[in-house]
Amino acid sequence: MGSPLFRTKNVEQSIQDTEEPEHALRKSLSALDLTVFGVGVIIGTGIFVLTGKVARENAGPAVSLAFVAAGVVCALAALCYAEFASTVPVAGSAYTFSYASLGELPAWIIGWDLVLEFALGTAVVAVGWSGYIRSLLDNAGWQVPAALGGREGATGFGFDVLAAALVLVLTAILVLGMKLSARVTSVVVAVKVAVVLLVIIAGAFFVTADNYDPFIPKSQPVEAGGSRLTAPLVQLMFGWTPYDFGVLGIFTAASVVFFAFIGFDIVATAAEETRNPQRDVPRGILGSLLICTVLYVAVSVVVTGMQNYRTLSVDAPLADAFKAVGHPWYAGVISFGAAVGLTSVCMILLLGQTRVFFAMSRDGLLPRFFSQVHPRFRTPHRPTILLGVIIAIVAGFTSLSELAELVNIGTLFAFVVVAISVIILRRTRPDLPRAFRTPWVPVLPIVSVCASLWLMLNLPAETWLRFAIWMVIGFLVYFLYGRSHSLLAQRERTATAGVAGRGGDTAG
Ligand code: ALA
Repeated sequence: MGSPLFRTKNVEQSIQDTEEPEHALRKSLSALDLTVFGVGVIIGTGIFVLTGKVARENAGPAVSLAFVAAGVVCALAALCYAEFASTVPVAGSAYTFSYASLGELPAWIIGWDLVLEFALGTAVVAVGWSGYIRSLLDNAGWQVPAALGGREGATGFGFDVLAAALVLVLTAILVLGMKLSARVTSVVVAVKVAVVLLVIIAGAFFVTADNYDPFIPKSQPVEAGGSRLTAPLVQLMFGWTPYDFGVLGIFTAASVVFFAFIGFDIVATAAEETRNPQRDVPRGILGSLLICTVLYVAVSVVVTGMQNYRTLSVDAPLADAFKAVGHPWYAGVISFGAAVGLTSVCMILLLGQTRVFFAMSRDGLLPRFFSQVHPRFRTPHRPTILLGVIIAIVAGFTSLSELAELVNIGTLFAFVVVAISVIILRRTRPDLPRAFRTPWVPVLPIVSVCASLWLMLNLPAETWLRFAIWMVIGFLVYFLYGRSHSLLAQRERTATAGVAGRGGDTAG
């Protein structure tokens, strides 16, 4: 790996960089903070909104199996993430890990990919939040004008003013400091988990066994008229007629509800701000993932038992299932809790996003201007503000479903790279202390790669196309800017000049 494209940043150097006073973040988080942080970002639009859509369109009551499948893929990836996070406790998640193992270009690709995941993820959740708020306003008799209610459903101009406003307010909170946002998050997470438990416990009393029949609806061809590009890539690759439902439908559903698990990897991005990352990061990641998987399976079993999957609502399935069984009061409480809960998801995604951008800028792959922390708040205020404004605009102008799929493919791709990196780093740096070791290396990371690729293949062909376009733009930015401005490249140049200088002195 002599090529500059694969120069690696050594692990000790990564840790040392975080200690430069101008570029250092405050270390204040514990394992509990991280778990709250994880649950805060993981439970969101995925369970509150997408459950209804995939049950209706792809999987029927077997949507709970789709959650299990997506949860298994995430658990495998989490075991790889945990080893990396406990070895390289530096802001930037998979980006930093791959810089220390695979090299600069792969790290850039991952960082660029994570920007996509977090930025669009923030936008998706903000749009979902805005839907719940509008539904609450409707209950109170207030209507948001159609042109300000987002693109979906609007004829002509549509700007989701609520979604954009939410992103801007959260941006301001993040600029003011991590501690404030963690405190706000704890309250919000408590409300959200309470609402999810309410759905499970109260909903269990309204389950009708008939609704589980058939549990896995028979597969049926996708309605004609749609573009072939909207079919899962795997079905096109093998020349199958695209089908919904059946066993394949469960995997199509899994590739979509995967969005519900996004966020546990962000716990790793906060490693640098954790007091004892070696011990607390793996606990935070695995703990929050486990809690969420159990809750998702329970919620989806209950909701598809309360109402026939064909009649589930697409916008607010958890709340509407209670309306369907004649309990609108519960529905109101659930809508309120969902709106509160989505706020924390949005905030943490935004935080993860700014931290990746920050780490890339600190390495010189993006302008260094962005990695100077605020002198008083000690937060990376510049990328936070820049990205906050861009995401607010994206959230205002775009629709939810296509964006969610694009977020999923980006995240799954990051999982693939992280799993490969675990194997490589074990070979290149066996000496590094690892507070958490992934079991059964290399078998488990290889299974993780295959599982993530399988879900990626179940995403629509057009999602692959959009993802490819985003990555091509990323390559251009790297070759036109990052490659020459990289701090690592500059250090190498200085070292080479030093050696050449000394060589000249000797000769003279
Ligand atoms: N997992 C988060 C959600 O479901 C991103 O909204």
